[in-house]
Amino acid sequence: MSYIKLLEVTKKFGEVIAVNNLNFEIGEGECFSMLGPSGCGKTTTLRMIAGFEDIDGGEIYAGDKILSSKKKGYYLPPEKRDFGMVFQAFAVWPHLSVYENVAFPLKLKKLKKDEIVKRTNEALKHTNLLDAAKKSPADLSGGGKQRVALARALAINPKVMLLDEPLSSLDPHLREEMRFEIKDLQKHYGFAIIYVTHDQSEAMALSDRILVMKLGVVQQIDSPLKVYNEPANKFVFSFIGLSNFLNVSIADNGIKTKDSGIISYGKYPIDNALKNQKDIVLASRPSEIGFLSEGGIPGITKRKSFLGEIIDYAIDVDGTEIRIQKGRKEPGPNAGETCHLDFFHPHWYSRDN
Ligand SMILES: Nc1ncnc2c1ncn2[C@@H]1O[C@H](COP(=O)(O)OP(=O)(O)O)[C@@H](O)[C@H]1O
Ligand SMILES: [Mg+2]
Repeated sequence: MSYIKLLEVTKKFGEVIAVNNLNFEIGEGECFSMLGPSGCGKTTTLRMIAGFEDIDGGEIYAGDKILSSKKKGYYLPPEKRDFGMVFQAFAVWPHLSVYENVAFPLKLKKLKKDEIVKRTNEALKHTNLLDAAKKSPADLSGGGKQRVALARALAINPKVMLLDEPLSSLDPHLREEMRFEIKDLQKHYGFAIIYVTHDQSEAMALSDRILVMKLGVVQQIDSPLKVYNEPANKFVFSFIGLSNFLNVSIADNGIKTKDSGIISYGKYPIDNALKNQKDIVLASRPSEIGFLSEGGIPGITKRKSFLGEIIDYAIDVDGTEIRIQKGRKEPGPNAGETCHLDFFHPHWYSRDN
């Protein structure tokens, strides 16, 4: 069942449309990521949901409660929205102990003393901070400080956690470990997560669904698998994983490059809408290209690198570099040799987007 709902939400800063007509719904207990390059509007969207930014158009709901509505001129302040929040910067109060940091929002809510003690200890326990309760957050590592921020957000028992690049200040090893800790906490507490990141592997590892954004506009909302296997456009394709793009022209029942014969599209037909365009783009992952002994699309092997388990090839096709990755035991050409490529899982896109 959907819980958070954004309807035609728009936000402008002067001339810049930071978020343009955004629509999505998030279910109870779902982990939903917003993924996209820096400046695409992720933080602005999260801040509108949190209530730190008003909206210039549209409506935001939590269940059947309105949070923001331009039409109705309504805006609920952040402290009444009851969301847990963790941001990239280690936003913990250095003059308070770890325990006091976590208990502080509960005191603001004027909860009973024994309830504050119970909830604070529970949050500290689940973030492995009980031993550090009396310390100053200043004495903790980056990972420790982010745990304090997480514990503080958990203690209010939110239905939704808003996380804005919470792991990006941590080193890679710790970042990976804390992904799993966040998932474990979610399982225990049952909150929904709205997770902002520019790191596609983080979004893939954590999420039930991913929203991919470009310049304030949604490009695709799907499961991680679907976003990877069926990217909606060239931008999504290029943003998720290693990608190859080759300009091709449509010929009778197939495609051709400058130097190739006509290649039939066989198992992967082109949409009729695209067939009306003469020039299109063939997109492919490095693992979805094979070597033929003849035919296919001709290229010249520029580089062959052994990377342990895999061999990475750079092939020149009509002046475009195509990356191919094969298992170390699979046959392939040597540097300098001509080769023949078989794009066995092509994706076709318009050249425009
Ligand atoms: N307070 C602000 N004043 C003016 N422009 C802003 C402000 N906050 C964000 N922007 C602009 O809005 C766009 C989206 O920014 P942001 O939401 O921070 O992107 P992201 O989090 O995806 O990196 C950018 O062009 C940014 O410069
Ligand atoms: Mg941001």
